Amino acid sequence: MQEKITQYTSEINTFQPKSVDELEAFRIRFLGTKGIIKDLFDEFKTVTPEEKRLLGKVLNEFKKLAEEKHQSFKEQFESGVQAGEAKQDLSLPGEGFETGSRHPLSLVRKEIIEIFKKLGFNVAEGPEIEDDWHNFSALNFPEEHPARDMQDTFFIKKDAENGDIALRTHTSSVQVRMMENGQPPFRAIMPGRVYRNEAISARAHCFFHQVEGLYVDENVSFADLKQTLFYFVQELYGEGTKVRFRPSYFPFTEPSAEMDVSCSICKGAGCQMCKHSGWVEILGCGMVDPNVLENCGIDSKKFTGYAFGMGIERITNLKYQIRDLRLFSENDVRFLKQFQSELI
Ligand code: DAH
Repeated sequence: MQEKITQYTSEINTFQPKSVDELEAFRIRFLGTKGIIKDLFDEFKTVTPEEKRLLGKVLNEFKKLAEEKHQSFKEQFESGVQAGEAKQDLSLPGEGFETGSRHPLSLVRKEIIEIFKKLGFNVAEGPEIEDDWHNFSALNFPEEHPARDMQDTFFIKKDAENGDIALRTHTSSVQVRMMENGQPPFRAIMPGRVYRNEAISARAHCFFHQVEGLYVDENVSFADLKQTLFYFVQELYGEGTKVRFRPSYFPFTEPSAEMDVSCSICKGAGCQMCKHSGWVEILGCGMVDPNVLENCGIDSKKFTGYAFGMGIERITNLKYQIRDLRLFSENDVRFLKQFQSELI
């Protein structure tokens, strides 16, 4: 019996399981109900009292050795570490995970903001759910103006007392909120999402993004507006980009204009993007109508101002030659990954 124990002891001492299954086989062999230790104890009962005195302690120690060996490997497997060595090679480089990238519209919005910040413009925001007053009435839209029509506007609630509630159709509503809440000077740009009830296609979407600009103070003139926008375009599209202003109409500005830039893609030679005209319209602008100033509690005899509004999608399309507006909202990583910028 002593001999057997010595032999099993050396077997246990060199035992190195490579898997949980091997460890389990070890447990059954030595510690199981029909295992070696059980057999040894049975045999122990049959030996002489003389041998009992000698073997008792040895047998108990042998049992303890088997139990401890099993327990320590069990713990190692549970903590994911194998006998004496790490299960994983910790010196291997980690598996990298993919980083995201900025959305092209965010990049361009940021670029626009940075340019105007240099000119001292603040950034302001307003709600996307607007009432009739801020989106239309205060901005001098006549009652029957087609822009109020169901075709264009997503109405949310009919409210005879406070005016209908709708998703804002433009960021010009933020101008009103800003002017209502203070007195000139105001010099701010207002980026945000706007909504229009349009069928979705390559050229139109039911939501898009605008940046509104407003400058109101004493003696602000159309010349100031032109110079500011000229500077903006040189910064955005590069020195030498030409601009032209065409007379236009908006209810909230008088006079009103639309501004074109020389096509940044064909440099004026004519291409698909500029419909072979060499020019691309990028924004609407004008002098804030005195009615709008008065609607917002500002003395139109003392103060004048200019405003402008541009679509971020349009500017982004031109910059990156994107031809389908739907790409901006499809979240296709292959599309989104292409835009890198030094602006984070
Ligand atoms: N709100 C106009 C639109 O959505 C854009 C616009 C035109 C804004 C002229 C202005 C402006 O501030 O002066 O089409």
